[in-house]
Amino acid sequence: MNRYDGMSALVTGAASGIGRAMALRLADEGCAVLCADIDQEGTESTAAEVLEHGGKSAAVVLNVTDSDAVKDALERTVSEFGSIDVLMNNAGVGGGAGWDQTIAVNLSGVYYGLLHGCKMMAERGGGAIVNTASVAGLNGLIGSQGVTAPSDGPGAYTAAKHGVVGLTRQFAVTYGKQNVRVNALCPGYIFTPMTAGMRDREGGQQFLESLHPMGRLGEPEEIASAAAFLASTDASFVTGVALPIDGGYTAR
Ligand SMILES: NC(=O)c1ccc[n+]([C@@H]2O[C@H](COP(=O)([O-])OP(=O)(O)OC[C@H]3O[C@@H](n4cnc5c(N)ncnc54)[C@H](O)[C@@H]3O)[C@@H](O)[C@H]2O)c1
Repeated sequence: MNRYDGMSALVTGAASGIGRAMALRLADEGCAVLCADIDQEGTESTAAEVLEHGGKSAAVVLNVTDSDAVKDALERTVSEFGSIDVLMNNAGVGGGAGWDQTIAVNLSGVYYGLLHGCKMMAERGGGAIVNTASVAGLNGLIGSQGVTAPSDGPGAYTAAKHGVVGLTRQFAVTYGKQNVRVNALCPGYIFTPMTAGMRDREGGQQFLESLHPMGRLGEPEEIASAAAFLASTDASFVTGVALPIDGGYTAR
């Protein structure tokens, strides 16, 4: 018996990196997954990989900055697979996207998922939402010469991710009695396309490794496994937490 047999999930940002790993992990545990992303080719590729491995999946093009489109994707999960049990609110951009875009995607995009997702899940008897925040949702980011992001980047990214942690706590409190659990993941630096620019700069990889007491970056699958725990019945009394998955980054 798999933890997610008979359940359905919407995963945003499913075309790449952490979201792709989340979709594959949930599907591997028996969950039907609607893969959503602004990147059509990428999200279709993730859904195709799930199908190749014998799982249930479909793909949808979604821009999470569009509130109605987020609602439609949640409804599509129900029409396609019969339920909406899990939402991985994961799509995001790096702070280099600038203030307006970073807040629109990383904060408002998560808010729309919570707004529509919690309501739908509450009406259907419950569910679980996992928001991808960051260590930047708990601490300010530090840079080093040659690794510092563009000037407004760290501020926008940190503000958005702190906001995600706040939204996580608020929606967890608001929907606790309706059996909708809401939690956040706070990854350290992970090997995904988002960090490629920083890793590829001279000394960048070593600098990023030095931020983590475990001396390395994380893999997308290490975030997906924690997400699969938080959204499962194994975490049935866990709500409102912001869980660092960061090789000790925030322990210093
Ligand atoms: N990689 C890291 O080190 C790291 C650390 C902490 C948190 N995070 C967070 O993890 C999440 C996933 O990032 P990743 O590292 O996998 O990066 P990634 O770039 O590999 O994946 C992000 C995905 O989000 C999609 N996306 C961007 N804007 C979108 C929009 N408006 N609507 C829908 N989809 C959109 C992209 O197309 C892409 O597929 C993000 O929220 C990111 O902030 C990443």
